[in-house]
Amino acid sequence: MRQWPTDRVLFGADFNPEQWSPETLDDDIALMGQAGFTVATVGVFGWALLEPEPGRYEFEWLDRVLDRLHNADIVVDLATATASPPPWFARMHPEAMPVNRDGLRLSHGSRQTWCPSNPDYRRRALALVDQLARRYSGHPALALWHVGNEFGCHNLMCFCDVSAAHFRTWLQDRYGPLDELNEAWGTTFWSQRYSEWIDVVPPRTTTAIPNPGAELDWQRFSSHAHLEHHIAERELLHELSPGVPVTTNFMVNHSVTGLDYNRWAPHQDIVSNDHYLANHLPHPAAELAMSADITRALAGGDPWILMEHSTSAVNWQSVNTAKAPGQMMRDSLSHVARGADTVAFFQWRASRAGAEKYHSAMLGHAGTDSRVFREVAELGEVLARCAPLAGSRTVAKAAFIFDWESMWSTDAASTPSEQHRYNDEVRGWYDALYRAGVTCDGVGPEADLSGYALIVAPSLHLVTDRTAQAIIGAANAGAQVVITYFSGTVDERDHIRLGGYPGAFCDLLGIRVEEFAPLLPGQTVSLSADADSPVSQLDQQTASVWSERGRAIPGTDVVARFADGPSVGDPAITRRSTGSGSAWYVATRLDGAGLDALLAPIIDGAGIEAVWHSRPRGVDVVQRRNETDTWTFVIDQAGLGVSVPLEGVDLVSGEASSADQPLRVAPGGCAVVHWHPPTGDDR
Ligand code: GLA
Repeated sequence: MRQWPTDRVLFGADFNPEQWSPETLDDDIALMGQAGFTVATVGVFGWALLEPEPGRYEFEWLDRVLDRLHNADIVVDLATATASPPPWFARMHPEAMPVNRDGLRLSHGSRQTWCPSNPDYRRRALALVDQLARRYSGHPALALWHVGNEFGCHNLMCFCDVSAAHFRTWLQDRYGPLDELNEAWGTTFWSQRYSEWIDVVPPRTTTAIPNPGAELDWQRFSSHAHLEHHIAERELLHELSPGVPVTTNFMVNHSVTGLDYNRWAPHQDIVSNDHYLANHLPHPAAELAMSADITRALAGGDPWILMEHSTSAVNWQSVNTAKAPGQMMRDSLSHVARGADTVAFFQWRASRAGAEKYHSAMLGHAGTDSRVFREVAELGEVLARCAPLAGSRTVAKAAFIFDWESMWSTDAASTPSEQHRYNDEVRGWYDALYRAGVTCDGVGPEADLSGYALIVAPSLHLVTDRTAQAIIGAANAGAQVVITYFSGTVDERDHIRLGGYPGAFCDLLGIRVEEFAPLLPGQTVSLSADADSPVSQLDQQTASVWSERGRAIPGTDVVARFADGPSVGDPAITRRSTGSGSAWYVATRLDGAGLDALLAPIIDGAGIEAVWHSRPRGVDVVQRRNETDTWTFVIDQAGLGVSVPLEGVDLVSGEASSADQPLRVAPGGCAVVHWHPPTGDDR
């Protein structure tokens, strides 16, 4: 058995040869060689073939696949195959099928048809894992175990009675006596007080607004129930296959909602993520970068695995646009720039039948004489040349805080405005940082903030005292801290922090908000900024979604006020010096121009210097470093072509680059400029 290779950038895909005739395997392996393919994820949906009848296992087909891959020097990420039980499982255990909020029990026929709390699912899944681990733990191709697949993608919440009992146990662990639960959920409101634990049920469909505390805990519990299963498989693998790392593929992407990956990440030996571009977004490339920056932070800054993305179209958006020529290279290198040391796809060979037959692949239906396959082979060559950067780390002096609990409590029912969605607010700020060329870590609320010069906390609605203190401490220690509206408003029980908004941050920011005054859909307000404002360019900028009625306390600079609308005259943006840093507050949603104007002096104040000062707008520039070398990624998202005056050798084209003889990157192209100190200059 091998370890996960750390001396190169791996390149590969999900590989599902069981969908094809046995002879196709030889063709596949030969073509993988042409493509520079080095890692295969195998067996993700293999349960029905591995265990065709309960307790009867058939492994010969998988033996053959692993042996052939090994002979071709391709390492294997072996799935535990537990993502999708076979149809017999539903027949034998109908009560393991998930139940939705309306009480409807779902049927098998798709995938992930199982309740995360069901003991029969757990038992049968672990029995399969046991068999797999015993059979393959010593196989020379094995380099990584892949638990399940995209946990919670389709079966995030199950509202059945078994889940209800599991929920109660989880609540008892969290709160102890029932009175504590009553207190946390504020059940004196609307006569919801519980007198017996048995009455506590999942927040199933009810008459009107559900109890927000129950909803929040249900989201926490649902994430936990899946995590519990992940841990059960992982522990068994560690026991039976010691030394082989274990992962599961996260889904940090535009619609991320369900699992609190800040809590999952410590249970991964290597963090891996799946990312698919969301073409309906205004800036899909920025969203990709944000996903990668969150994933890197989940990995603690260590290299991570891009387990899946697509060579071209997917099959599950309303219109599945094809990637433009060159886009797959840009997408792949954007992930590598942000710390991925593996670039993998769903999937190697496009399926001929089944629900995903129109999903692109490395080898599409058209075969090798195709643009996609040629670009795949080109990417394979580039990634092979990137081997020396494996293990290096992305350089980030800024961070934004990304918190699932704040997302859940912000996006809950009955908040001040449904126009305000957590992901939109975070993405707005992220897009502006991305435009400004600032590489950020997307850290969790419990992260160590001490190394960052700039920290943005967009709508960090739910904060513990500890998180609030960490943010306050970072500002006092010299960081520029930006906090936006609806932050600090509730504690971890979703109880309002009294005395004015934004609760936990009033003193830090020097502001007291008395009333939220959100804006109607389409409504905008103007800002006014005096000539002596630190950001006078904010004068006459427009804002939307939110306004607030509050006042700044003496010593707080009012950077801009609401010039009209429901909060006319009140502070819209403030700044307060604190310790050796500054705390900025933004009480509304700025448009892109407003965000750019506001961020410029904040980035300056943080002392964050651009890697490349004359970087043209729309060109993504990110650095990775190890002790001696630097790799500067230049990705022309603007499609205009660019001259790169950086010193080094470009790993994409193989050409040298310098200030005197800048490298020419074609429109939409990429460069990875490798700088190695001259001999004798190694630090
Ligand atoms: C997810 C799954 C894959 C496949 C792709 C399609 O990432 O893990 O099995 O369904 O989506 O985009």
